[in-house]
Amino acid sequence: GSRRCSAKATQPFKVTFVEEATGNRTEVAVDPATFPLGHIGLEGSVLDIADGAGVEINHTCGGVCACSTCHVYVQQGGGSCSRATDNEEDELDKAPAVSPDSRLACQCVPNGTQDLIVLIPRWNRNEVKEGH
Ligand code: FES
Repeated sequence: GSRRCSAKATQPFKVTFVEEATGNRTEVAVDPATFPLGHIGLEGSVLDIADGAGVEINHTCGGVCACSTCHVYVQQGGGSCSRATDNEEDELDKAPAVSPDSRLACQCVPNGTQDLIVLIPRWNRNEVKEGH
C-alpha cells in the first residue's frame, strides 16, 4: 500500500516526558540527525523518541497502530505533530480516558517546530506491572 509521508522533524527540538504515576520528568533533546532512535513505531514518533531515551511507554503491538497501550497525552506542542489517521482514531477509541490531547505515541510524529510535553498516563505503568 501507499505510505503516507509524515513531515519528520528537520531541526532539533525538545520533548519533556512526564510520568503521571511517579511525577518523574525526563527532558529529551531530539536531534533528527540521529533518527531512527529506538527503531519502534513510526520513525521520529513520540514512542521512537521515548524508547531511544530510555523512557518506557507500553507498546503491546510493537508500534504498528494495532493496540492502544501507547496512549499518551500531548499536553504541549501537539500542533506540530502529524495528524492522527483514521486508524489511530479507531485504536484511540478503545483507550481509557481519551481527551483532545490523546495520541498513540507510535503514530505521533512531531515536525520539530515546537517543544513537546507528553504525559504518560498512570495506567500505562499499571499494565506493565500486571504484565498484560
Ligand atoms: Fe500499539 Fe502504538 S504501540 S498502537
